Amino acid sequence: MGINNIPVIAIDGPSASGKGTVAQQVSRNLGFHYLDSGTLYRLIALVATQRGVNLADEEALANIAKQLRVTFKDKEIRLGGEDVADLIRTEACGNGASRVAAHFQVRKALLGRQRAFRLDPGLVAEGRDMCSVVFPDATLKIFLAASAETRAQRRYKQLMEKGADVNIATILQDIRERDARDSDRSVAPLKQSANSSFIDTTLLNITEVVNEIQRQYTEICVKNV
Ligand code: C5P
Repeated sequence: MGINNIPVIAIDGPSASGKGTVAQQVSRNLGFHYLDSGTLYRLIALVATQRGVNLADEEALANIAKQLRVTFKDKEIRLGGEDVADLIRTEACGNGASRVAAHFQVRKALLGRQRAFRLDPGLVAEGRDMCSVVFPDATLKIFLAASAETRAQRRYKQLMEKGADVNIATILQDIRERDARDSDRSVAPLKQSANSSFIDTTLLNITEVVNEIQRQYTEICVKNV
C-alpha cells in the first residue's frame, strides 16, 4: 500500500482540549499508530533549556530539532538513555514548547519526522497543523474545542491526580496566555482548518468524544467502499 493510502485521523485543538487522551484511545481502539506531535516541541524546549539555548534562537533550536535522538516505547520517551516522559509534561515545558513551536525552521525540521509515523494500518496524529500542514490529505480531520474554564478544570484534575501542587487560577491564566500566543503567531497559528469537523467537548466526556470520532471515521470508510 502506498504511504498516501494509509489512513490518517488528524486531531487538533487548543491546549488541554483533551486531544491527547482522545487521540490515544481512538488509536488503541482502531489498532492505529499514534503521534503526539506536541511531545516533539516539548522535547526541543527541554533540550534547549538543559543546554542554556535561548528559546528565541531559531537556528540553534532548528539544529536541536534535526539532531533529536528520541525513541518512543509504550509510555517511555527516551532521550539518549533517559526516560523524560514526566519531565516534558510540566507546565514550564509546555510553555517553552509553545515558544519553540513559533519558529518556522523548527517546524520545517520536524516535518519529515512526523510524516514517518504514517505506517500501516493507520495513524492517529494530534497537534497543531496536523490537519493543515503535516497531513493535509488526512482521511478525517477533527478540531476539538472546549471553553478555557473547562480546560483549566480538566488540567487541574489531571495535575492533582499526579500529586502536583497546583492552583486553578494560575492554570487558567496559563491556558489563556498559551491560547493567545498559539493563535496570534504567524507560523502555524491555532485555528480550525477549513475542511475539519468541529467538536465542542465542553459538555462531553472522553468516551463520548472518542465514539463521535470513530462514528465519523466509520462513515467515511463506508462511503469510500
Ligand atoms: O499539545 P501540547 O500541549 O503538548 O503542545 C505544546 C505546544 O506545542 C502547544 O502549545 C503548541 O504551541 C505547540 N505545538 C505546535 N504544533 C504541534 C504540536 C504542538 O505548535 N503540532
